[in-house]
Amino acid sequence: MKRADGHIAQMLRTQRKHVSFHTPGHKRAGADITELSYSDNLYSPRGAIAEAEKDAARILGARRSFFLTDGSTCGVFSMLRCLAATGRTSVAVPVFSHPSVRHACDAMGLKLVPIPQETEYGIPRQPAREAILRALGSADALLITSPDYYGNFPPLPEIGALCKEEKKPLLIDGAHGSHLHFDPARYAGTYADLWVDGVHKSLPALTQGAVVSAKTQPWAEQLLAAVRMFRTTSPSYPILASVEYAVKYPRNEALERRAEAFKTQYGCVKNGDWSKLLVPFGKRCEAAQRFLEAHGVYPEFNDGNYLMFYLSPCTKGKELEKLGKLLEKLPRGTVLNAAPAGAIPIYSEEP
Ligand SMILES: Cc1ncc(COP(=O)(O)O)c(C=O)c1O
Repeated sequence: MKRADGHIAQMLRTQRKHVSFHTPGHKRAGADITELSYSDNLYSPRGAIAEAEKDAARILGARRSFFLTDGSTCGVFSMLRCLAATGRTSVAVPVFSHPSVRHACDAMGLKLVPIPQETEYGIPRQPAREAILRALGSADALLITSPDYYGNFPPLPEIGALCKEEKKPLLIDGAHGSHLHFDPARYAGTYADLWVDGVHKSLPALTQGAVVSAKTQPWAEQLLAAVRMFRTTSPSYPILASVEYAVKYPRNEALERRAEAFKTQYGCVKNGDWSKLLVPFGKRCEAAQRFLEAHGVYPEFNDGNYLMFYLSPCTKGKELEKLGKLLEKLPRGTVLNAAPAGAIPIYSEEP
């Protein structure tokens, strides 16, 4: 099977030109169709979607994987629903988790047990094992983010072992880690009972494409009931096809090596994730961003201390080269030891 020929893409390609007496209202029956006699159904898939999800589960090491067209947010809601549905009432969560975690806990009536995170050189550090252990003592489960937006990892093997020992489920928000399924030691699915892969962020899927997975049959059953609760009943087929394409996209080891060399050459912050290049500019961030954008180069974020450049297996060597040449022209500033702009502790109200 050619890489682009996923089950869903193939199904979309074999459709014949037809007159649309169905949604969507634009009436141009191309790839953007709805659930028709031949296009399967995300709620109870039996055709192309079922085959694609099966392949994804095999690739990701899951008992079952479910495609999402509503982002990792839908995966976070679905995972936390599994806790509530199995009688759990609380979950330990690092304080700089994504807002969807708090919103899902609010919706599900789960008590949030905050795990403190230190800020070091303007970057929230992953919580220490001891802090996790303390919080887990008064919670029924643990949800961690791995890797985080800055490319750092919690101590996954220790956390995995700890949750097993305590018989408490481990949920991992892998919104930024879907490219790591090639690297089992650092992949969420190696350790978690339930995890979400934000494939649209670090693999070539359309925006909103994600996958949520369960490791075992009992969790798979819970997760099926949960995704049925939160997923749209009008999924976008272009997004579904792109999720399958992204999960099957090959590893780009040459780029991974090049990115690691780039980090050393251009003084990026050391982290564990080749796909996240963090360049320290301190108060020169704004000027650096303006300069880069004037040259057509757009970073992922500017948090007031760092510009972050987000790679994927599709990043081209010559693009990295261009970035490097521009960075050489830019003066750096000192980073401040404050929490990054935009990172809001999960227990506080957003302004
Ligand atoms: C750590 C983390 N989790 C979850 C999400 C939600 O992902 P999505 O935007 O795909 O819904 C994000 C989004 O940025 C995130 O950074």
